[in-house]
Amino acid sequence: MTRFAPSGPLRGELRPPPDKSISHRAALIGAMTDGHVDVTGYLDAADTRATIAVLRTLGVESSERGASAAPGGIDLRVDGAGLRGPAERFAAAGALALDVGNAGTLLRLLPGWLAGQGRGSWVIDGDDSIRRRPVDRVAEPLRAMGAAVECRDGRLPPLEVAGSALRSISYRMPVASAQVKSCVLLAGLMAEGETRITEPAPTRDHTERMLAAWGADVSTEELRTVPTVGGGPARRITVRPGDGLEGGEIRVPADFSSAAFMLVAATIIEGSRVRLTGVGLNPTRIGLLGILNRMGAPIEVEEEPEPVEPIGTILARDGPLKATRVHAEEVPLAIDELSLVALLGCFAEGTTVVSGAGELRHKESDRIATVVDGLRSVGAEIEATEDGFAVSGAGALRGGRLAAHGDHRLAMLGAVAGLASQGGVEVDGIGAAAVSYPSFEADLETLT
Ligand code: S3P
Repeated sequence: MTRFAPSGPLRGELRPPPDKSISHRAALIGAMTDGHVDVTGYLDAADTRATIAVLRTLGVESSERGASAAPGGIDLRVDGAGLRGPAERFAAAGALALDVGNAGTLLRLLPGWLAGQGRGSWVIDGDDSIRRRPVDRVAEPLRAMGAAVECRDGRLPPLEVAGSALRSISYRMPVASAQVKSCVLLAGLMAEGETRITEPAPTRDHTERMLAAWGADVSTEELRTVPTVGGGPARRITVRPGDGLEGGEIRVPADFSSAAFMLVAATIIEGSRVRLTGVGLNPTRIGLLGILNRMGAPIEVEEEPEPVEPIGTILARDGPLKATRVHAEEVPLAIDELSLVALLGCFAEGTTVVSGAGELRHKESDRIATVVDGLRSVGAEIEATEDGFAVSGAGALRGGRLAAHGDHRLAMLGAVAGLASQGGVEVDGIGAAAVSYPSFEADLETLT
């Protein structure tokens, strides 16, 4: 149990650790290239180390190029094995076991690459939390492409993927998931013909940006005629198989989803003033900024030019907040920050409502249940709904105990709640933060 005591104002400047989503993709897509990829500031955390370990099991080597200037990062060279590298290096008598640990992104993206290998067979498994995370969402489109994929009870890991010859599909995703989209895009690189994916609402587009930067034929168009979750345009992403990926380089920005904890802490703790530098500002990731803006938070953002992924500085200060509503179309743009919206709601005037966020039930924990129970146990007036929650702003939080349930974002939520509370919060399982943010406690300390 770790206690986070009520804190005075947060002050200072911080570069949060590198982006988890981009790091996973840099290693995985780097491994698919015919050359190599130099990654500057690859996230050095449990989840992204799992990706490097899995790639090594597949016969793909990566080497550290030296200490990184990015805190929490390593500079890495990934030696590409080519699109069909895993098949060429497959030497197992039976299926080869791959352990993704706690990494849901690896769990969903990897099958896309392996499915198109033509030969070989792999069993993908992970920890207890991974075993509860649905994979039918990737098995279904991959099977439609001609892949051989088996999962436990038809929908859960472990899943076994046998390398097959793939055909292209036009796939309309039933859920707005960047992981599903990315999986199908990777498979599409090896399929015969043009693969099209329509997403019901825009989701993070790191895969598309990286593939385009490293030589893939991938394009995105907005479709105004397809009905969508929020009435906005759907997006169709098209990928055509080419002669392989060239490789290149990428500078990984600081993770907006990690920065968000500091950002929200500064917003709700009186007298705070925090500068977060080098943060990824990809528009498909920063829905929280729009939400904060509507709530009246005095946030300022300065963008800097960067070729693949937008990057910049965020200045966060405290201020009075008013309640807001977050609907389905905004959910994918803030999916990993919605637990923080619940915390913000505790300090806002009125009732903050998040709906259309049923996907939260499939994260590292059932994040509707765990966030509602956790915040309630520290004094919040919050109710769960089927696809979200409603929080009444009391203007303060009593404090108490919050269980992380092995979920990194819940552990960090508990810590920030503690700093902003009247009596402090005891977090049961703060160690889970290391999945995405190993220096979380130390970084908090530098600001408090
Ligand atoms: C991620 C996509 C999101 C997000 C997850 C990381 C990614 O999941 O919640 O933390 O890297 O593609 P879904 O795509 O399943 O919504």
